[in-house]
Amino acid sequence: MTKVLVTSAWPYLNATPHLGTMVGSILSADVFARYCRLKGEDIVMVSGSDEHGTPIEVEAIRQGVPPKELTDRNHARVVNLLKRWGISFDNYTRTESPVHKEFVQDHLTRIYENGYIKTQETEMLYCEHCGRFLPDRFIEGKCPYCNAERARGDQCDACGRLLETTLLIEPYCVICKGKPVAKKTKHWYFDLPKLSQQLFDYLNGNKQLSSSTRNFSLNLIKEGLKPRAITRDVSRTVEWGIPAPFPDAKDKTIYVWMEAVLGYVSATIEYFKNLGQPEGWKEFWFNKDARTTYFIGKDNIPFHTIILPALLLASGKNYNLPWNISATEWLQFKGKKFSKSDKFGIWIDEALELFPADYWRYFLMATRPETKDTNFSWALFTEKINADLNDTFGNFIHRTLTFINTQFNSEIPQPETLDEHANKILSNLKEKVEAIAAEIEECKLMAAANDVIGISRIGNQYLNEKEPWNLIKKDKKKAATILYVTSQIVKALAVVSAPFMPFTAEEIWRTLNLHESVHVQKWTEALNPLQATHKIAKAKPLFRKIEDTEQKLDEKLAKAEEKLVKTPRDP
Ligand code: MF3
Ligand code: ZN
Repeated sequence: MTKVLVTSAWPYLNATPHLGTMVGSILSADVFARYCRLKGEDIVMVSGSDEHGTPIEVEAIRQGVPPKELTDRNHARVVNLLKRWGISFDNYTRTESPVHKEFVQDHLTRIYENGYIKTQETEMLYCEHCGRFLPDRFIEGKCPYCNAERARGDQCDACGRLLETTLLIEPYCVICKGKPVAKKTKHWYFDLPKLSQQLFDYLNGNKQLSSSTRNFSLNLIKEGLKPRAITRDVSRTVEWGIPAPFPDAKDKTIYVWMEAVLGYVSATIEYFKNLGQPEGWKEFWFNKDARTTYFIGKDNIPFHTIILPALLLASGKNYNLPWNISATEWLQFKGKKFSKSDKFGIWIDEALELFPADYWRYFLMATRPETKDTNFSWALFTEKINADLNDTFGNFIHRTLTFINTQFNSEIPQPETLDEHANKILSNLKEKVEAIAAEIEECKLMAAANDVIGISRIGNQYLNEKEPWNLIKKDKKKAATILYVTSQIVKALAVVSAPFMPFTAEEIWRTLNLHESVHVQKWTEALNPLQATHKIAKAKPLFRKIEDTEQKLDEKLAKAEEKLVKTPRDP
């Protein structure tokens, strides 16, 4: 059994996540983790709410509430939504957790003692109107590298590069839109250049990383890493974040990214602590056979390929560095970026007002933006749900099971000796099940999701060709053989669809009247045949066809939005 740690990027808690946040990190991690469990790996899946830092402070100021009040409220809501989406975290925690804060302070103290953190007097941008320094998302301007508008203080969305606020061209305060002034302050800097060679060797030697992720990151190193500020000034009005543990750093907190990525470790520690096995986490973080796989959106790449490994290396403790990092491109909405201010996009709460979680889960994985941005449109959504889920997957299962219900007294029929065609179908099934496994292991979740439908397509073609509904009148034995074969496909579908559509898979499993839950089975159970005479339950349709027009769906979405309008949206 391999130790596998599966993680997803920690969503900022300034608002409810939208589908774009869901697809690349949380949902992808869940599909992968569910698969690993079926494979029988010793897996732990962690993430949490990213509560500190400027996105939350900015939103709290806008709402006129203390940041803690905002994150308490949003954390509770997000936890509940993740459950309704069928996300199976072993530990979904938060950066306000005492275990996290303590771990971060200890870890950074160690790095400081190891000589990787130095102070520097610098000029930072200060807003005289708001009476505060303007780090990260408090400030926007033009990117000094690619000239894109609205680059943020710590990163440019357009080119993905890490920034420092003082590099921004024509910067302005996001709260009052005023022009900031430069003001002297002292900060603690993480000496990334000192780790350049080690980071280069790690990335260069990592064979799991996609070439685009690896090359992007190696390029950042070749361009020259710069020391990066690890502290922030405490604002006058609120104290928010983790206090910096360095000598004389009383009025400083830790830069959100330098602590959030350490949450992967602290969440594992917390998980095992709650289990009463305080040493258990070490197997995942120091045992060299353990594998850690991170699911993120592409803007998060430098924080996972540079900052996180650097923080781990600087401790000198021989931590496991990321084994694989699966980064997705953007999911767009009708050809544009999701936008909170324009009320443009779909958020994970309103999505569930419109359709069950499995519809969304399947759609998002089947169109996962793996190599290029993908686009949400109602036309595509309707097509994937109607053609793939309803007409192919759902229809095949329903045809097979109702036929067994009505013609064979709900018992898996006794087959004759399997002919060549039947054997061919079963060997195709085996190949597909194995292909799906290989794809998931390589984080090719889009291909895997579509191949699940491909299995039901094989079944449908077989039924169409053999027409057991005609055969049954002439040769019941032959019809029995065909339904025996298709019932095996149904069973396989229950198992292989479980990572993608956990609710539907469970319903199929129950209808097949099999023991326990599909989610505690082994992947190999997909090919373990149902026995003749095994009694099944009465089949019910798994999906409903979407008959609404695009306009109608837009109206329904607007209604859901209105109903949920009291809750803030993602930017
Ligand atoms: N909150 C960040 C974002 O939404 C992701 C943090 S990932 C972590 O972009 F590793 F730092 F937690
Ligand atoms: Zn840029």
